[in-house]
Amino acid sequence: MPDAEGHKWFAVVWDRMVKAENSAIRQLRDDTVKGLQGRALEIGCGNGANFARYPDSVTELQATDPDPYMLERARARAHELGRKIEVRKAPAEQLPYEDASFDAVVATLVLCTVADQARALLEIRRVLKPGRDLRFFEHVRYEGRLAALMQDLIRPVWRWCGAGCHPNRNTAQAIEDAGFRITALRRVTPEPPIPPMWFSRPCIQGRAAAP
Ligand SMILES: C[S@@+](CC[C@H](N)C(=O)[O-])C[C@H]1O[C@@H](n2cnc3c(N)ncnc32)[C@H](O)[C@@H]1O
Repeated sequence: MPDAEGHKWFAVVWDRMVKAENSAIRQLRDDTVKGLQGRALEIGCGNGANFARYPDSVTELQATDPDPYMLERARARAHELGRKIEVRKAPAEQLPYEDASFDAVVATLVLCTVADQARALLEIRRVLKPGRDLRFFEHVRYEGRLAALMQDLIRPVWRWCGAGCHPNRNTAQAIEDAGFRITALRRVTPEPPIPPMWFSRPCIQGRAAAP
C-alpha cells in the first residue's frame, strides 16, 4: 500500500499492541523521555503512546507521523490528555522544522520502519541543537549470526505484515554513522507478547548527542 494512503489496519493492530505492552516495555518508554526539558520533537509518534509520559519540564512538544490513521489517533490522544501537542504530517526523512531548533528528539519503535534510515537520522541531527539528545528505544538486529540470519530471511514478510518494519536493522551503528555520539546504551530482550515478536527483539534504549 502506498505511503500516502497510510495503513489503516496497522493502526488498529498498533492500538491493541500498545494496550498489551508489558511493564518492561512501558518502563523502556518511560526511561526514553525521562528528564527531558525544553522544546522536544517526537518522530513517527504513531497513536501517541508516549504522550502521557513526557515530564512537565518539556515546555513544547511537537510530534510527526506520515500516516493519516496514526495522526488521527495521536491528535485524539493529545486532546484526551488535555496537553498542547502539535501533531504534524511528515516523514522523518523530511522534517518541517528549522535547523538546530530542538532540545531533544525522541524515536521509539520507528527507526525500524522509516524508509531511509540514514536520511532520517541526518534530518534528526539537522533539527537538534548541537550537543542535545536523540533519545531512542528501538528493536534491532540480533548479534548472534543465526538469529540475525533468521531476521534477514523473514524481512520481506515482516515488512508486509508490519507496515514497512525491518526486523534486522543495526540501528546503533546507523546512529553513529550519522555523526551522533552514543552516551548511554542498554541492550535488552523483553519477553515477546506473542511468539512471532521474537523477530522484533532485541531492543536498544539510550541517548545519542548531536555533534
Ligand atoms: C510501530 S509504529 C510505532 C509508533 C510509535 N513511535 C510508538 O512507539 O508507539 C511505527 C510508526 O512509524 C511511522 N512511520 C512510517 N514511516 C515513517 C517515516 N518515514 N517517518 C516517520 N515515521 C514513519 C508509522 O506511521 C508508525 O506510526
